[in-house]
Amino acid sequence: MDLEFAMTEEKPSLPDDLRRVLIDEETIANRVSELADEINAAYKDIKDPLILVGVLKGSFIFMADLSRRLTIPHIVDFIAISSYGAKGDKRGEVRLLMDTRENLAGHHVLIVEDILDSGHTLAYLTKAFKARGTESVETAVFLDKPERHAVPVDIRFRGFEIPDVWVVGYGLDYKERHRTLPFIAEMIPEN
Ligand code: IMP
Ligand code: MG
Repeated sequence: MDLEFAMTEEKPSLPDDLRRVLIDEETIANRVSELADEINAAYKDIKDPLILVGVLKGSFIFMADLSRRLTIPHIVDFIAISSYGAKGDKRGEVRLLMDTRENLAGHHVLIVEDILDSGHTLAYLTKAFKARGTESVETAVFLDKPERHAVPVDIRFRGFEIPDVWVVGYGLDYKERHRTLPFIAEMIPEN
């Protein structure tokens, strides 16, 4: 890469369908470090590795950053679900598409999720994992939209509270767009 060119190049402007940056890269990095500190402290005395279960796809970047800042022994795992409750549908049906590789029974489990909206996804997963005889089940949620909660969910570790707007970046998408932006941005709603 031509370094001189890179240094003089102007910062790319925000894509047309995005309104504004809500949370910038540096703020995200600082908060994820704080969350990792909280998790390290909370689980410092456990005997077996903590099992982190990321909810695909949205959590993959948060999972990568968070897990690399953990100093406690931990195992990274993922699940995939399909949620019919994500965009206004009140049924809140959640279906497991891909299960964990690890057997969760007897282990401390931390569900790693990109965003809490209605709460149906986390309510379902918490209940399902507890039914497997886990030692404990807690949640780490990068973003929380408190105005949207439809069912009660206990969030043990929370990154940021945001207003009721559709956000993208840092793993979150809109129809698979903008998932790998390094910041969180607000979408301009499509009509
Ligand atoms: P819940 O079951 O309603 O809490 O749905 C949570 C899921 O909806 C998240 O894991 C996301 O996949 C999706 N979601 C909710 N709000 C947003 C958003 O603003 N941007 C991107 N995905 C979202
Ligand atoms: Mg998700």
